[in-house]
Amino acid sequence: MLVEKNVSLQPYNTFGIVARAETLVRVRSTEDLAAFRADPVLGRAQVFVLGGGSNVVLTGDVKPVVLKMEIRGRRLVRETPSAWIVEVGAGEPWHDTVAWTLEQGWPGLENLALIPGTVGAAPVQNIGAYGVELQDRFDSLDAVDLATGLGFTLDAAQCAFGYRDSVFKHAPSPAGPSGSLPRGMGLAGRAVITQVRFCLPKPWKPELGYLELERRAAELGMEQPTAQQIFDWVCEIRRAKLPDPAVIGNAGSFFKNPTVSPEQCQDIIAREPKIVHYPMPDGSVKLAAGWLIDACGWRGKTVGKAAVYEKQALVLVNRGHGADSVTGGEVMTLARAIQTSVYERFGIRLEPEPVVV
Ligand code: EPU
Repeated sequence: MLVEKNVSLQPYNTFGIVARAETLVRVRSTEDLAAFRADPVLGRAQVFVLGGGSNVVLTGDVKPVVLKMEIRGRRLVRETPSAWIVEVGAGEPWHDTVAWTLEQGWPGLENLALIPGTVGAAPVQNIGAYGVELQDRFDSLDAVDLATGLGFTLDAAQCAFGYRDSVFKHAPSPAGPSGSLPRGMGLAGRAVITQVRFCLPKPWKPELGYLELERRAAELGMEQPTAQQIFDWVCEIRRAKLPDPAVIGNAGSFFKNPTVSPEQCQDIIAREPKIVHYPMPDGSVKLAAGWLIDACGWRGKTVGKAAVYEKQALVLVNRGHGADSVTGGEVMTLARAIQTSVYERFGIRLEPEPVVV
């Protein structure tokens, strides 16, 4: 266990916000977590678990102990007639892992190429893109309960995956039985994911349900593209409209796409015929938050160093650099102004996607 004091978090959050951690602990193994728990001072402190920092907005210095997850390792656990089961350490970079599985000949994660962040953060918000969500390729995960020090394994049902949601995003109920793992309750701040196992189904089938991929396959006359081709297309599409966090700081989509009832949707369509909407399998309708924000004229607008990305209104970006970077306060002021104007025009409340610390 490596303990560091007064650490700059700017390199560890993709927005590039300037903030410091009073204490940062690098977790490189499950044993490091045990050592952390056993420490008389650290073991009692509040914690904040940091993966790749691609889904956080830091609004100030972080007082809780930052557990920076750096557990590495990737391996094939088993191969069955119907799947490859691959286990990956929480600290492995997501995109490199996707590329590695393809190199090994285990396709299935290609639609999720180029998503920033780490493997351990992927289940927390059930990352998704281009017609595939993490839960579609998930087997199970290992985690450590910080309250008891015990390791445990969760399957997909126990993770309670939803749209950009899981049990790891919800706070434990204060009424929960102490000493035991809360059932059906949140695990935020309590459980630390150490390994994730993926289930990559055989035979592999391309997932081209997303309009932009379908269009590309049709244009090139490829009805049966390979997983590598889909990987390349997803990278091209993402590079064309999403900012590279290494160049322009950002946290990906800043708001979730809201869902409304079909009646609400009809009501909105009557007023806004062009609204981009998708019917969902459960009968509800998902609206494109980027379209709503765009329709309110936000594209390219700024608050201090915080800006709405010109090519995709759903992404807020850092227009500053280095010490002169955006502050979490500026980002949240811009986010709240967007929420207010979308609510006033459409009656819809947008919910932020990143974790605000
Ligand atoms: N749109 C606009 N103006 C904009 C942005 C979008 O009119 O400024 C319209 C587009 O024309 C399109 C629709 O909104 O018809 C949806 O846009 P897009 O296809 O780009 O996808 P999205 O809903 O904005 C979601 C995910 C992304 C994921 C893409 C691709 C959420 C919150 N975002 O974005 O995930 O990569 O689909 O599957 O669900 C992320 O979570 O960080 C992320 C980038």
